[in-house]
Amino acid sequence: MTTAHKPLYEKVSDVVNSMIEDGRLSRGSKAPSLRKMSQQLKVSISTVTKAYMNLEDQGILHAKPQSGYFVQKCIKTEPDMPRWPAPAKTPKPIHSEKVLEGIFAAANQENFLSLGAAIPSAELMPSKALARATRQVLTRHPEDIVNYCFSPGLVELRRLIAYRTLEAGCQVSPDDVHITSGGMEAVILALSAVTQPGDIVAIESPTYFGLLQAIEHRGLLAVEIETDPVTGMNLDCLEETIRNENIKAVLTVPNFSNPTGSLMPEANKARLVDLLAQHNIPLMEDDIMGDLYFGENRPPLCKKFDKKGLVLTCSSFSKTTAPGFRVGWVLPGRFKESVLKTASALTQVTASITQLAIAELLRSGYYDRHLNRLRRAYQHQTEQVRMEVAAHFPEGTRISRPKGGFILWVQLPQRINSREMYQQAMEAGISLTPGDLFSVSRKYQNFIRLCAGYPMTEQVSQAIATLGRIAHNMLNK
Ligand SMILES: Cc1ncc(COP(=O)(O)O)c(C=O)c1O
Repeated sequence: MTTAHKPLYEKVSDVVNSMIEDGRLSRGSKAPSLRKMSQQLKVSISTVTKAYMNLEDQGILHAKPQSGYFVQKCIKTEPDMPRWPAPAKTPKPIHSEKVLEGIFAAANQENFLSLGAAIPSAELMPSKALARATRQVLTRHPEDIVNYCFSPGLVELRRLIAYRTLEAGCQVSPDDVHITSGGMEAVILALSAVTQPGDIVAIESPTYFGLLQAIEHRGLLAVEIETDPVTGMNLDCLEETIRNENIKAVLTVPNFSNPTGSLMPEANKARLVDLLAQHNIPLMEDDIMGDLYFGENRPPLCKKFDKKGLVLTCSSFSKTTAPGFRVGWVLPGRFKESVLKTASALTQVTASITQLAIAELLRSGYYDRHLNRLRRAYQHQTEQVRMEVAAHFPEGTRISRPKGGFILWVQLPQRINSREMYQQAMEAGISLTPGDLFSVSRKYQNFIRLCAGYPMTEQVSQAIATLGRIAHNMLNK
């Protein structure tokens, strides 16, 4: 777009950016006030406000209540995106690692800064609204709270989830929703419904270690499929693997993958569903981050394109509302009976009070207002952590640029071993997740996953600087 056709607010943004570029504004310094900028550029205060809010969304400015806008980012060049070679296309069993226990234990310790676990900060969760909702259900439904709530779960919550799924492009009825105890149970039920021990499942590489554990638990073999840092699973590679191996199911995180943050484009989702339908292969999509998009619209589910009932969608309220409530769900498609049967054998019942409270939160309309705030906070924090990493880590570090969620995938210079870095970070009271935990074949040894679930306090900023020092020292050794 030529300058003449740019909206006014973008011209204001350009002025601020050029002040940062040439050093008139440095990191931490105060941007000109709204009034001053509006007088100087002869535009309205609302135009300057729009420009500043936009710059805030990009992580360039940061608003401090009652004080104005401050420069947050003055990195001249964007860090490059991580890159990794394609994994071997051989099915392998999974052997999960004890190191995970250390990461989870660190997350439970008060004085530990847990950048390793994908945990949203408690202060971002709607605790007060949940407490209010819980009080209401205690008063209104005392008998429901003490009673069993048998699978597939509370009908009102299933109705509300079915309604919300419309936004992701799908028409499902409350009967198509099965409530679970968190997202992991949803994945385990889905895996149990579509595989037998010894079967081969295709997964993204890298992928969330919890999914690897679920595959291990079921006694399956996994074949790693090459994955693009921006668009997710490489479908040409998947197609080739389907030709060569007896793939019984595919497990993917299409919306804001953990750990890469990739987002599978809508056309790829349609192609993936179509490809698997041709071979009658079930697709499990883990959509736990799907509501946490930074853009204008919610990305659709693969289920949107499902004509044969082969797609099983798994999700939970853990990243948006309350991980401790353990409320998740699966949309099992044609595998409804099988999921119900396994659920009956495993847990049979999901806690009633948490289902009732979440249903109340959704019904009241509070949830959507909360999500709007949360998405902005995650976007801002993710950008802040990216910039801190770019500022403190050794040259050559590459950082993902997710369009949703709050997880960053960081590629360190080749010589840095992330297991060693993990040990040193733990000794300094900071957790991170070593990259090889996201792979069956222990790839990604110079990668780490960082979580941007916490607001950027001095403590978080110091912790990232400490990680940067550790990385520099390892490189100079
Ligand atoms: C991709 C993905 N799936 C599932 C889960 C597990 O979710 P829950 O805590 O609801 O069991 C996580 C948690 O980090 C995740 O990142």
